Amino acid sequence: MENQNKPLIIRTIEGKKEERIPIWMMRQAGRHLPEYKELRARNKSFLDFCYAPAAAAEATLQPLRRYDIDAAIIFSDILVIPHAMGQFVDFKEGIGPVLEPIREITELRKLDTSKIITRLNPVYEALGRVKEKLNSEQALLGFCGAPWTLATYIIQGKGGDRNDAKCFAYQNPQFMAQLFDILIEALAIHLDAQLKAGANAVQIFESWAEDLSDLAFNEWVIAPTKKLVARLKELNPDAKIIGFPRGASHRLKLYHSQTGVNAVGMDISCDIFKTREEIGNEICLQGNLDPFALVAGGEYLEKSVNHILDCARLGPHIFNLGHGIVPQTPIANVEAMIKLIRG
Ligand code: CP3
Repeated sequence: MENQNKPLIIRTIEGKKEERIPIWMMRQAGRHLPEYKELRARNKSFLDFCYAPAAAAEATLQPLRRYDIDAAIIFSDILVIPHAMGQFVDFKEGIGPVLEPIREITELRKLDTSKIITRLNPVYEALGRVKEKLNSEQALLGFCGAPWTLATYIIQGKGGDRNDAKCFAYQNPQFMAQLFDILIEALAIHLDAQLKAGANAVQIFESWAEDLSDLAFNEWVIAPTKKLVARLKELNPDAKIIGFPRGASHRLKLYHSQTGVNAVGMDISCDIFKTREEIGNEICLQGNLDPFALVAGGEYLEKSVNHILDCARLGPHIFNLGHGIVPQTPIANVEAMIKLIRG
């Protein structure tokens, strides 16, 4: 076989037609695995857990020990970036992330990109540890949150609906321009460092690409992502990037052609055949199994997997979910899904 030096997922991202369909699952390292819950119980603070290289490497490798999948995604979080730049970030049990909101232009000075590499060194060390354990066909993935998604957390101080962040962004274009510039630089540094530490590709999670007008989508999603991709490729011309604008499945062709990402993730609501037709048969697509079809299992899971596999025959495709795997997912259903794909 040719290209044996590059893992299967990377060859697929490059648009090569492969015999096997690569598989990984968003949020695969996490609470659906009992061994994760056990490891998590021993690491009380989620952020300290992310910054403990041995524990983070272990969490990253757990799903690969259990499942026949083709990638490890580093155990970390999108919010390590505001945290490493000096914003207060905490993960509260049963609530999720809580940040001290930044809403004044003068406060943007608090966000310091110069400390990222030293503060996130444990993440890069964890990547190195994981890399040593993978074989040449398994890819290691790094990731970050996209500028707009991170901006919503930085401005609102929490997740949930983005109405507050949207109104704020409409009213404060200067603040947004400065914040995007800071984030673009921070994220390019972080993605480049992950690639240098051993990641074969990176995914940009734009988890909050939904509910945006054309104008806002262009200004807050497309433009900053395009700059981030360009900056990363300046630092690392060979960088392979998967962009995942969740909730913008009707805009995937636009997103792909404008931002310069190499591959595109499809959420649950994406019309996958239409997207394949629009984007052509050369570009790598990823997704879009409903995580709750995986919870349900049985006939509908089989039907859903086959529907995606039918589409995957048309062009390079990475099998994945349309959003993160949820904690109540039965392990047997994941195994059944993988068996179906492999069969
Ligand atoms: O397996 C993997 O995919 C790698 C690890 C990973 C985590 N978070 C670990 C995590 C990844 C890729 C993320 C991305 C992330 N984090 C996103 C983008 C993807 C998406 O889901 O849309 C977002 C929006 C976040 C922010 C975040 N982190 C939230 C909203 C929460 C709380 C809700 C939740 O899912 O628990 C987290 C916490 C978090 N990040 C956990 C894990 C395993 C759970 C923490 C715990 O174990 O207590």
